Amino acid sequence: MKHIVLTGASSGIGAATARKLAADGHRMSLGARRVERLTEVAPDAFRHALDVTDEASVETFLAAATAANGPIDVLINNAGLARGTETILGATGEAWREMVETNVMGVLHVTRRVLPQMVERGSGQVVMIGSIAGHETYEGGSVYCGTKRMLQSITQALRYETLGHGIRVTSVDPGMVDTEFSVVRFRGDEARAASVYDGMTPLAGEDIADVISFVISQPPHVNLDTIVVMPTDQASPKRVHRRTT
Ligand SMILES: NC(=O)c1ccc[n+]([C@@H]2O[C@H](COP(=O)([O-])OP(=O)(O)OC[C@H]3O[C@@H](n4cnc5c(N)ncnc54)[C@H](OP(=O)(O)O)[C@@H]3O)[C@@H](O)[C@H]2O)c1
Repeated sequence: MKHIVLTGASSGIGAATARKLAADGHRMSLGARRVERLTEVAPDAFRHALDVTDEASVETFLAAATAANGPIDVLINNAGLARGTETILGATGEAWREMVETNVMGVLHVTRRVLPQMVERGSGQVVMIGSIAGHETYEGGSVYCGTKRMLQSITQALRYETLGHGIRVTSVDPGMVDTEFSVVRFRGDEARAASVYDGMTPLAGEDIADVISFVISQPPHVNLDTIVVMPTDQASPKRVHRRTT
């Protein structure tokens, strides 16, 4: 059983993944800013406050996780967000900074601090939660899609840079998953967030958790590269089948 560090475990895909991997028997270290939520997610897991945009917070979190659960076998970079749907013309720039700081810089801050111990031990696994937004962009999504596209380059470079060190690097890239993602994107507008899934059946966090569990359960010589997972009602970010009643 492995020591798995999971960022953004307080909600959605992260919370479902924490529950699934804890049930699989792994030693979990969970981080999020809303640390109080983590108790409910997985009461037996190690839980600690984490803001991936704050390097001091990342260092404190990782030191505490290692002290509690030992060397890190698997890092899951899940923390992330989209903020707003403003066009480039209509935006002010604050949301761009937040998305880049969280989805790109946050992943780098955490990953670079976990890698040395994996290289030293000659084994380890890094799972990125990307998005189909990294594969195809859409109006109002320039920077969110850009951050997820950047994650693809980072993931690929990481695979090249760690080749020969026994480290596996996988990107799990979901389509529409019904989490708090849209509530965050629409700045708390619950009705607008719910309308994103009108007439279609989205994925649940548990569906992505099952995929991550499968990725982690592969033998050490098998690296799943990129897994794109969409609801049956979705073919791309812009092609969604909606039933009318
Ligand atoms: N839902 C979708 O349709 C979808 C599709 C493709 C990809 N994704 C990706 O899936 C990942 C998880 O999103 P979700 O759908 O599960 O949304 P969610 O329900 O809003 O969960 C996002 C998680 O990220 C954490 N987080 C955000 N900023 C953070 C920070 N600065 N430091 C630490 N944790 C932070 C949040 O925790 P706190 O707020 O407590 O810190 C929360 O636990 C994201 O990377 C997202 O881009 C989602």
